[in-house]
Amino acid sequence: MNTSVEKKSGNLLGIPTSDTQNISQHLNQLLADEHVLYIKMRNFHWNLVGPSFVEIHEFIEKLYNQTALDIDLVAERIQQLGHAAAGSMAEFLKIAHLKESTGGKKEQTQAVRELAEDSDSLARTLRTMISEIDEQYDDPGTVDLLTGILRTQEKNAWMLRRYLG
Ligand SMILES: [Fe+2]
Repeated sequence: MNTSVEKKSGNLLGIPTSDTQNISQHLNQLLADEHVLYIKMRNFHWNLVGPSFVEIHEFIEKLYNQTALDIDLVAERIQQLGHAAAGSMAEFLKIAHLKESTGGKKEQTQAVRELAEDSDSLARTLRTMISEIDEQYDDPGTVDLLTGILRTQEKNAWMLRRYLG
């Protein structure tokens, strides 16, 4: 074990611990928002009502499967930075920017609009997060991860809005 690196940084990436704490806070915020969005996608996948049910039902399934993969990458990045990920819905709801949607039948246009707005909102959060981390810390690995997730959210928002005409 390279104790000199660990003593200096608290983790094996060589990034100062005070920096990894701040970066991990950003990542836990993202983790919370992605969980709220993930549950909302499952909700709308089930409760959707409308003439394009099958197509949108299947499209939303693709979106939540992608979101589940991104969630895993974010939580594992927090571990690589030497910190702990938030892990309960109570913790996520306390820090998430995005709002939950209750269950019950959901008209398809309304469902698609809400998911597009959430992807837009998450993209805005990600842009701010990426700028802050890029300007304040030396962590291109996290910036690269977040940039990939940003691209996914931008594409999702674009695809969802195409349903709205
Ligand atoms: Fe399903």
